[in-house]
Amino acid sequence: MTFKRPIKRKYMLGTTPIEPLKRTSALLKGPELFIKRDDLSLLAGGGNKSRKLEYLVADALRKGADTLVTCGAYQSNHARLTLAAAKREGLKCHLVLSDPTGHGRGAAEASGNLFLDRLLGADKIILKPKDTDLFQALDDEVDACTDAGLKPYAITLGGSSVLGCLGYVDCALEIAAHEISIKEEFDYIVVPVGSGGTMAGLIAGLREAGSKAKVLGINVLMKKVTQEPRIWQLVQQIADLHKIGASAVEEDVQCFDEGLGEGYALPTDEMREAVKLLAEKEGILLDPTYTGKAFAGLIALIRNGFFKPEDKVLFIHTGGSPALFEHQDWFVESNEMTNLPESEDTVE
Ligand SMILES: Cc1ncc(COP(=O)(O)O)c(C=O)c1O
Repeated sequence: MTFKRPIKRKYMLGTTPIEPLKRTSALLKGPELFIKRDDLSLLAGGGNKSRKLEYLVADALRKGADTLVTCGAYQSNHARLTLAAAKREGLKCHLVLSDPTGHGRGAAEASGNLFLDRLLGADKIILKPKDTDLFQALDDEVDACTDAGLKPYAITLGGSSVLGCLGYVDCALEIAAHEISIKEEFDYIVVPVGSGGTMAGLIAGLREAGSKAKVLGINVLMKKVTQEPRIWQLVQQIADLHKIGASAVEEDVQCFDEGLGEGYALPTDEMREAVKLLAEKEGILLDPTYTGKAFAGLIALIRNGFFKPEDKVLFIHTGGSPALFEHQDWFVESNEMTNLPESEDTVE
């Protein structure tokens, strides 16, 4: 291939596995489903940001930074993984977090990712109220670091800068190599869409590799009307700056609102169904905010007849399961958990 990618750190175990979801495919009577286990990485708790951070942290180190500064929701997987990467590299890490739902527990009762942020020893956690402009708050914290004599490196929301997107170009190349090795192609690749860098990198990488697979983004943060132009802009920037995926066209960006429910980080019955389904039928943990909702969106597309029975559909598991531990009540209170044993029952 003719394009060049910048140097990167190594936070992945290697090529992540692609496995069939046989029981789930049979149960849903849909297309042939597969899963790519991008939840597995070398960074604490794993997840898709590991691939983006391989490039972003290499850039930070090359520029002589001593502090990574990033932002996100208070249950941000991206923040937890940035912090884990910082610890691995001996860097400091400051996190600017907000609670998008207004229902979150405070730092003192922190669980899920926020608990892990404290366990991993974040050098500073700034908890901002709902509706905070996180981009501005990130800039402010970077200025404060500089004023304090630190050398900060800002990582934008979700790590979705053009450089960060290259992590998902790498993932796309793994998928294309897999297609060659099994001599079969995926018809569709389904991925959760938050800040959009994962989807943009996948589209650029797949087009560059000559794969025919169509990428379907399931929105969990913004609606289709806002998200598609943002992702198309990222795809064009990847082509301009890195000469990757120049053959991509605007129609390659296809997002769906089917999994979104009432909004970001708010639970839906369909998300609960998807999380329970993968747990019980495949022994795989999804998460309530991204992969659970994205898989719910995939199920909705199957039920709406979007796919042909012979289609091969690859779901990208982007991680996030630590957030399950912040939201156990969403599952315990729902009928989905009525099969839990009473305390005196034995589990066989
Ligand atoms: C588990 C998980 N999946 C998917 C995403 C979405 O990825 P992107 O922000 O690149 O769209 C995120 C983003 O934080 C995430 O934490």
